[in-house]
Amino acid sequence: MHKTILTLALAACSVPLLLVAQSGNVTLPQDKGPDKINVSSYPLAQQQAYKLFVSKCSTCHTIARPINTSMTQPEWERYVKRMMHKPNSGISNSQGKEIYEFLVYDQVNRKDKNPSAFSKSLSDEEIEKLKAQQ
Ligand code: HEC
Repeated sequence: MHKTILTLALAACSVPLLLVAQSGNVTLPQDKGPDKINVSSYPLAQQQAYKLFVSKCSTCHTIARPINTSMTQPEWERYVKRMMHKPNSGISNSQGKEIYEFLVYDQVNRKDKNPSAFSKSLSDEEIEKLKAQQ
């Protein structure tokens, strides 16, 4: 009985800690941009994938982060895998693939047409530097 209460208490306490650890607790420049995409002109499959993207890619940081980051196709592939493999990402392989395809469509049809409106992906060193400053 007591053991159960203790376990529950520990679990409740570790949730906020886990969230802080996962977000890296850092604000990146792209987090401050818009947090929505108007997908009304996108193909239906991409409109569906957008919903999955918003629900899965906003659990650790704002959805504005990927919405305002420009990457090449191989970079997106690598990055979606990197996010999927973070502890408790909650993203399956097939969901990762669908989100990756959405990100590539959105890159070509929105970001590449207006490159100066988006941030380039930051290196690990740049992210560490921002963490140290905040
Ligand atoms: C489990 C937590 C978690 C989830 C879920 C997550 N991210 Fe992240 N994301 C992070 C962390 C932490 C960072 C900071 C860099 C790092 O530690 O890898 C980050 C950084 C980023 C960046 C910044 C890249 C840069 O170099 O400027 C982008 C873009 C990004 N995530 C996109 C996504 C996308 C797309 C998804 C959904 C497929 C996603 N994230 C889901 C934790 C997460």
